[in-house]
Amino acid sequence: MSKFWSPVVARLTPYVPGEQPKITNLVKLNTNENPYGPSPKVLAALKDAASDHLRLYPDANADDLKATIARYHDLTPAHVFVGNGSDEVLAHAFLALLKHDRPLCFPDISYSFYPVYCGLYDIDYRAVPVDEAYRIDLNDYDDGAGAVIFPNPNAPTGRLLGLADIEALLTRLHDRVVVIDEAYIDFGGDSAIALVRRHPNLLVVQTLSKSRSLAGLRVGFAVGHPELIEALERVKNSFNSYPLDRPAQLGAIAAFEDEAYFQEARAKVIASREWLVEDLKELGFDVLPSAANFVFARHPQRDAGELAAALRQRVIIVRHFKLPRIDQFLRISIGTDAECEALVKALSEILA
Ligand SMILES: Cc1ncc(COP(=O)(O)O)c(C=O)c1O
Repeated sequence: MSKFWSPVVARLTPYVPGEQPKITNLVKLNTNENPYGPSPKVLAALKDAASDHLRLYPDANADDLKATIARYHDLTPAHVFVGNGSDEVLAHAFLALLKHDRPLCFPDISYSFYPVYCGLYDIDYRAVPVDEAYRIDLNDYDDGAGAVIFPNPNAPTGRLLGLADIEALLTRLHDRVVVIDEAYIDFGGDSAIALVRRHPNLLVVQTLSKSRSLAGLRVGFAVGHPELIEALERVKNSFNSYPLDRPAQLGAIAAFEDEAYFQEARAKVIASREWLVEDLKELGFDVLPSAANFVFARHPQRDAGELAAALRQRVIIVRHFKLPRIDQFLRISIGTDAECEALVKALSEILA
């Protein structure tokens, strides 16, 4: 607190990102990064990008990247918005599309950045409880919502909603914006991007941080009706005209152009998740069904905070949220097979 601060600053509750500890030999299963590196074609594009051209500003409109994403999803560049990670895309969406007279609705167990954006932009919101099995019921969102946002699969539960339920919501709430945050969709769900042409109230946000192994490059994007995209562009161009630097634009294009690598990396993550879930269940954990690159698990007899601390002593870090309803869960990112094996071995020692 300082007398020099604008008054709003003291009222903010900033998001706390997962730790990035500087410990060697760490098994890092806490921030849902991809355990496999980016495509070699991305690395080659980034090397090429380290050139004299860096003296010039990048393309403010990222036309080539938008065209690449549009082609990939069979849409037009006017349907695409790009930003510095999906967190930035979401931030712009909150201001551009989700601030209305009636409250914004999102699940009570959800991405913890959403209430932070509401605090920053002074957006009234209602946290809608997920059920006792941590499922979102979209019928709960009809009443009085000014707009709706939810992740699919949900984070941190990993639970997935099907497109039929989503399409029914879009139809019922045809006069309100629905934003679907698909940070993890490539690990087991069908993207709502398929619904964009039919529903002008739908904005789908995705990231290259997870399934395309590029958390360090900071590229996210949104897909929706051109009128929604225009609102995002207006906010973006009132904030930072150049959110994506030259290497990020070129690296992201290369990532979309290496479909084989993408398919292989995500299949490996899904395969590891499947056996890890079974091993955790054998150790006595309740594991929520996950369509993401993480699992959400609790042990009926052991305190989650203590388990996380015991894992940490063995140089394995997972995420533990000290929040109502989920403080007995661990969120475990899917690592390489070797990392998942190290986790299972450590847990069986701790539980013995
Ligand atoms: C649900 C959800 N949305 C968005 C993001 C942001 O991803 P990024 O800013 O790396 O694109 C995350 C990151 O963990 C997430 O869990």
